[in-house]
Amino acid sequence: MPLEDFNEIVSKMTLEEKVSIVVGVGLPGLFGNAPSRVPGAAGETHPIERLRVPSAVFADGPAGLRISPRREGDELTYHATAFPIETMLASTWNREILEEVGRAVGEEVREYGVDILLAPAMNIHRNPLCGRNFEYYSEDPLLTGEMAAAFVRGVQSQGVGSCLKHFAANEQETNRFFIDTVVSERALREIYLRGFEIAVRKSKPWAVMSAYNKLNGKYCSQNKWLLTKVLREEWVFEDFVMTDWFAGDNPVEQMEAGNDMIMPGKAYQINPKRKDEREEILNAVKEGRLSEKILDRNVRNILKVLINSPSFKGYKYSNKPNLDAHARVAYKAGAEGVILLKNDGTLPISVDKRVALFGTGQIETIKGGTGSGDTHPRYVVSLLEGVRERGLKIDEELAKIYIKYVGEMRNREEYKVRWGVLGEFMPIVPRLPEGFLSEKDIERFAENNDVAFIIISRISGEGYDRRPEKGDFYLSDDERSLVDRISRIFHKYGRKVVAVLNIGSPVEVVSWRGLVDAILLIWQAGQETGRIFADIITGRINPSGKLPTTFPRDYWDVPSWNFPGEPRDNPQVVSYDEGIYVGYRYYDTFGVEPAYEFGFGLSYTTFKYGNLKVENTGNMVKISFEITKTGSFPGKEVAQVYIRAPRGVIDKPFQELKGFHKTSLLNPGETEKVEIEISVDSLAIYNGDRWIIEKGRYEVRVGSSSRDIRLIGSFTI
Ligand code: BGC
Repeated sequence: MPLEDFNEIVSKMTLEEKVSIVVGVGLPGLFGNAPSRVPGAAGETHPIERLRVPSAVFADGPAGLRISPRREGDELTYHATAFPIETMLASTWNREILEEVGRAVGEEVREYGVDILLAPAMNIHRNPLCGRNFEYYSEDPLLTGEMAAAFVRGVQSQGVGSCLKHFAANEQETNRFFIDTVVSERALREIYLRGFEIAVRKSKPWAVMSAYNKLNGKYCSQNKWLLTKVLREEWVFEDFVMTDWFAGDNPVEQMEAGNDMIMPGKAYQINPKRKDEREEILNAVKEGRLSEKILDRNVRNILKVLINSPSFKGYKYSNKPNLDAHARVAYKAGAEGVILLKNDGTLPISVDKRVALFGTGQIETIKGGTGSGDTHPRYVVSLLEGVRERGLKIDEELAKIYIKYVGEMRNREEYKVRWGVLGEFMPIVPRLPEGFLSEKDIERFAENNDVAFIIISRISGEGYDRRPEKGDFYLSDDERSLVDRISRIFHKYGRKVVAVLNIGSPVEVVSWRGLVDAILLIWQAGQETGRIFADIITGRINPSGKLPTTFPRDYWDVPSWNFPGEPRDNPQVVSYDEGIYVGYRYYDTFGVEPAYEFGFGLSYTTFKYGNLKVENTGNMVKISFEITKTGSFPGKEVAQVYIRAPRGVIDKPFQELKGFHKTSLLNPGETEKVEIEISVDSLAIYNGDRWIIEKGRYEVRVGSSSRDIRLIGSFTI
């Protein structure tokens, strides 16, 4: 639309109409609100029919589009693809894959009639217990920003928008509506804002969602420093900001701070203390407490984006996205995100090996977390179905025992799946006890099989954090006893034992990993989880994922020990006292040994690094090296470049990730030349109130993980 037409629309709007643009219609389909034209979408804007401004539809989320799969009185179904969770996508370290997933999700967004996808979520893995870590990429801001930028490019290539969330410092679920996150400006700039900055600059997202929490005393949605100074003035973000759902407490302050749109609208429907946002804004303008210019600015920011939306353009969506093609994308992404944590040669297994699957997760396979990051796919291939489909020789007697057990237990009152506060939004799934097999049974299965796989599953979701207890961060007693007994008995018969982690965020492994021969981290891989699992264990896929987040030895090693804030029984404030020392920045600098370090992941093959060249051209540091595949299996490698800054006058981490590259599939003997450019600006440290670059010798550390450094070079500034 030409700018004049657009300006004309705004100039013709009445005050009431302007106000209706900046406040959503209320949660569609709930509390007596009209259902969305896309049932299950999270939000919608008001139309202005007189000016031919249509309503726009917004829907979640990070692992695929979240809409209702069924509609009342309608025979058709509206399933969307369940992709791997974001943490698993980041484990691929593959920008192209992220872009491909983005394109697939974007097509579903467009073909189901949605305008803006409420993803990617890009908060930092500050603590492994955050209930929504699965929705976030990494503990590192560079990896986070690069993954997000690639995903957004993919989504927006489809003519729909992407919304970065939750801006910013929203690293926990406990009291998320009002917790005050207290964090130094340095940690904000270098860690918590950096990923957003990269994504804003590199991919121009249509929207940003401000977070629920307060940031240093002010709600993010009412925080002018965050939304205007940093986001717009410094990063030159030109599109619009929306609140998280029902966030903040002052619509007028939100308008002033640069939070253009209030979502979903009608907060009074869930909170009696709140008023109608539209009335509040209208009255404030009429009484001179809010300048109409600010309202105009916000309306423009929003409309400037929405005129490019499919709804505005009158796009005729099909309700028939290419789900088959997208299932292949989900498979491909998951295949690259699996991480082999331990392997004494047990994996891969040949297809004629007899396989025994233990753990209820083989049936109740976790595809992703709950809440707004959930999805409703056509199917989820469980681990059991996956190995059956791929024709592995599984112990069918054992499989039947598990199917019967799970079926019976879920019928019992105490194990029934219950619905949480917002209906299907947050189901509560009690964990089933794992200790029901007798020693005699296990003896028989050990006699009859070559390899045991023990599945350990965890699910978490929006609204609550995980706990540093048995059954969550630690194995429960029954899980531990299953691992003990199976390992002991299978090993007695000379058999192998593999643990399979079907989880969204780290668990404790150190106390039991010595008992098993291999550990495979399959995360929550979406609808194709079972197929990916079967193909990884048989070597059809060579694992090439690397950890985007550290596995600590013990929960109490985590630097953010005060998570989720003070006072303990009902936290009001969470203070990020560890500053910039998050994840590997902490473990490396303070000499704390992790269970598995950031960037770690084994392969069925080996790679050799060589020929490092480093050149400082002034603005850019050019780094090149070669990776040669030495082992017999074809495979991909993720090369990571860490920079160790000179000691200087300001304290800083031992090393920081500044670049990475995933190779193509290399055949035995094949070499790939890798070239990585690092901008000198990205070496800056935030000191007091400005960025500075310290002079001296910088060490370039090229590695296969953060602790497996293969090449070292340097440059001087
Ligand atoms: C979540 C957002 C989500 C929104 C709409 C909120 O509760 O925090 O991530 O996009 O709901 O579903």
